[in-house]
Amino acid sequence: MFLVPLTLSLSLLPLGLAANFDWENIRLTSTETSSYPAIRFASQPPPPPISACRTIPGDSSWPSEAEWAKFNDTLGGVLLKPRPLAVVCYTGDQYDSKRCEELKQAWGNTVLHSNDPTSIMSQWASGNTCVPTAFPNSTCTQGGYPVYVVKATTVRHVQLAVNFARNMNIRLVVKTSGHDFNGKSIGGHALSIWTHDLKSLTYHPNYTSPSATYTGRAVALGAGIRAADGYTAMSQYNMTMIVAGGSTVGLTGGYMQGGGHSSYTSFYGLVVDNVFSIQAVLASGEFVTLSKDENSDLFWAFRGGGGSTFGVVTSMVVKVFPVTPLVSSSITFSTLPARGSNSTGLSVETFWKGVQEYLAYCVAICDAGGLGYNFIRHATSGNTTGLTFTTSISLPNKTRTDYQSFIRPLLLNLSALGIPVVLPPVKRFSNHVAQDELYSRSLFMPNSNAPLDAHDTLRPRALGDTVSQTLIASRFFLRSNHASPAALSTMNAAIRALVEDGGYTFHGINHNPNLNVSGHPDNAVNPAWRQAILHAQGYEGGLHWDGKDPVGGRKEWGERWERLQSYMQKWRDVTPNSGSYINEGDAQDPSWKSAFFGRNYGRLLAIKHARDPWGVFWAMGAVAHDEWVIRSTSDEEQGSLVMQDGRLCRVKV
Ligand SMILES: Cc1cc2nc3c(=O)[nH]c(=O)nc-3n(C[C@H](O)[C@H](O)[C@H](O)COP(=O)(O)OP(=O)(O)OC[C@H]3O[C@@H](n4cnc5c(N)ncnc54)[C@H](O)[C@@H]3O)c2cc1C
Ligand SMILES: *[C@@H]1O[C@H](CO)[C@@H](O)[C@H](O)[C@H]1NC(C)=O
Ligand SMILES: *[C@@H]1O[C@H](CO)[C@@H](O)[C@H](O)[C@H]1NC(C)=O
Ligand SMILES: *[C@@H]1O[C@H](CO)[C@@H](O)[C@H](O)[C@H]1NC(C)=O
Ligand SMILES: *[C@@H]1O[C@H](CO)[C@@H](O)[C@H](O)[C@H]1NC(C)=O
Ligand SMILES: *[C@@H]1O[C@H](CO)[C@@H](O)[C@H](O)[C@H]1NC(C)=O
Ligand SMILES: *[C@@H]1O[C@H](CO)[C@@H](O)[C@H](O)[C@H]1NC(C)=O
Ligand SMILES: *[C@@H]1O[C@H](CO)[C@@H](O)[C@H](O)[C@H]1NC(C)=O
Ligand SMILES: *[C@@H]1O[C@H](CO)[C@@H](O)[C@H](O)[C@H]1NC(C)=O
Ligand SMILES: *[C@@H]1O[C@H](CO)[C@@H](O)[C@H](O)[C@H]1NC(C)=O
Repeated sequence: MFLVPLTLSLSLLPLGLAANFDWENIRLTSTETSSYPAIRFASQPPPPPISACRTIPGDSSWPSEAEWAKFNDTLGGVLLKPRPLAVVCYTGDQYDSKRCEELKQAWGNTVLHSNDPTSIMSQWASGNTCVPTAFPNSTCTQGGYPVYVVKATTVRHVQLAVNFARNMNIRLVVKTSGHDFNGKSIGGHALSIWTHDLKSLTYHPNYTSPSATYTGRAVALGAGIRAADGYTAMSQYNMTMIVAGGSTVGLTGGYMQGGGHSSYTSFYGLVVDNVFSIQAVLASGEFVTLSKDENSDLFWAFRGGGGSTFGVVTSMVVKVFPVTPLVSSSITFSTLPARGSNSTGLSVETFWKGVQEYLAYCVAICDAGGLGYNFIRHATSGNTTGLTFTTSISLPNKTRTDYQSFIRPLLLNLSALGIPVVLPPVKRFSNHVAQDELYSRSLFMPNSNAPLDAHDTLRPRALGDTVSQTLIASRFFLRSNHASPAALSTMNAAIRALVEDGGYTFHGINHNPNLNVSGHPDNAVNPAWRQAILHAQGYEGGLHWDGKDPVGGRKEWGERWERLQSYMQKWRDVTPNSGSYINEGDAQDPSWKSAFFGRNYGRLLAIKHARDPWGVFWAMGAVAHDEWVIRSTSDEEQGSLVMQDGRLCRVKV
């Protein structure tokens, strides 16, 4: 399934630009651009005009059909003009009731959307202007989805798209998998670069890094490679790679550029801590190598500064490891009675004491190189609803016996609180734990292997597991939040308020990518993350969206966002010097600069201005995004939650 790396003779490679794959040697030349001004590089005069807003269809400056056709010819025919997936449900040329019925069945499946040129997993940002409707006479509009897509298979395609968008004043977006929760991989009236097909992977058993600071295992990954391709490569080449928990998440796109955490975060650091070099097309159209020796400003910025900001990554080389097995088991307790036992559930007070006891143990989990992966859910058993806590704890490079002794003090302390937990058998995983595995094992009740009830035997959904309309509250709780019983109690109260008063679901990931385990890298990752013991998220419980139920207008969305903010504020209040993970946070967090970038913001902004003075790359929550706004192009005003179906305009010209 992987392309064989092309063994080009060195003489064919342009000097000083080490491509990882053959398709990176297919590039745009300035000879081509001289006769076609729309595709010229930024280095070729004249500079692009500075307009107040991006041009949109209907404007006189929007390229004509003939111009798009010429662009498509230049691209060799890889320009797509896709309608939203659900267009087949609407009266018109593309109406297809059978296909619409199929879509209605399959809508929740993320693979459907990740393989589509424009669709995304968390769909509110599209404006929901074209959903699998039961009313075919209603109207499907493009909404927040881009108008044209370049289905890139070479660097040249990426360069053409970047140059054309910059020169023609068209909004540009980039999609790898469409997993971003905040609609950062779509944009209304935009041209999109779809990196899905850049699916090459080469394993280097004895790679030498730039400046030869490292010799050993590494992989080169094309921008279309996903976590699932990584799972395959790990077994094929007998090694361990840092991959996302969700199998369709792209590895070099938003995931890497925001940081990239995995089952090994407390053991090997984040993905960005292990990157040796990056190949990217910049806003100028240039294709460059980034490493500690070349374009080191960008090399720093790309590793943590966020996707869709500095350029389009086409590939990277990243360190991989000897096979590193993990042992894992899980703990569950609940205010609901266990099935098949006569015990009553825990009291609400005991439940929260149990949560705090667990929180107290998280520093030990992280310091052992481990991962905690937990949920506090509002669960139902029979006619009763209650709170259920589940956590899966995984430790790399430890035996089952090590695991049992590691976990015993926590079990003893829980037992002393009146929470008797029987640990399910400790499982061993060879080289990573996929999100599915982590979650399916965390469903069991104390003293019983019986599921809560029939409903819960269906694997419940984790964040991002299914198509959704997800708003997230997210924050790193730091080592200092775990440093004393008083601090733990304050943190526990903030989490409790979000769950009990707010009615939200809590999802926690315990890991600590501190500088020691990360190898003291110099990169742009959120400095707060280095201190994090708990990467916490809060969201509405009913994650799954089948595409049918009405989801409300902008006013209602704004209200939902503001309500979640009010609980999120309690988390901010108890974590004053912290932040959150750009890829799994709220892009519209009012404190986004400090939250996502901390003290790195100023340096990132300077690099952004130097390398993309045109604002070619723009996404909500990204560096410098506040220099632009989205103005509604529909009758409805943008509510307090900004959607992508408007026109992108400069705040100041
Ligand atoms: C089911 C699921 C599981 C997840 N598991 C993890 C996990 O284990 N660890 C973790 O750290 N995160 C995880 N995430 C979050 C994940 O990191 C983000 O959703 C991330 O944005 C996905 O990157 P992508 O490129 O695949 O997605 P996209 O939505 O395609 O892109 C995300 C952002 O990056 C930009 N971008 C994409 N490709 C490129 C490129 N080649 N060059 C420049 N910019 C680009 C896009 O424009 C957009 O701004 C998970 C998400 C989901 C939904
Ligand atoms: C681009 O050209 C290809 C090949 O001729 C064609 O199939 C495709 O429909 C064209 N794209 C657009 C948007 O017209
Ligand atoms: C759609 O409109 C047509 C023509 O006006 C009408 O015949 C049909 O019943 C309508 N269908 C629905 C589902 O409303
Ligand atoms: C790896 O490369 C280094 C430097 O080129 C060399 O010294 C070493 O012998 C190689 N190791 C293996 C296992 O091939
Ligand atoms: C895989 O790697 C492990 C440790 O790195 C080693 O012990 C084992 O022999 C290898 N297996 C194969 C089939 O190469
Ligand atoms: C529950 O209580 C009943 C009646 O006291 C008893 O017969 C039964 O064995 C108990 N069940 C369990 C699982 O303890
Ligand atoms: C749940 O409630 C329904 C209706 O009130 C009742 O018929 C049923 O017996 C209850 N089930 C349990 C397990 O209590
Ligand atoms: C794994 O554990 C063994 C035995 O304790 C140790 O020798 C080895 O260095 C560890 N591996 C890593 C990568 O830490
Ligand atoms: C167990 O509880 C005791 C008393 O509160 C505490 O000192 C100890 O640190 C706890 N152990 C663990 C593993 O949390
Ligand atoms: C990192 O290592 C230093 C030196 O060994 C040590 O003092 C420090 O506590 C370590 N930090 C963490 C978070 O483990």
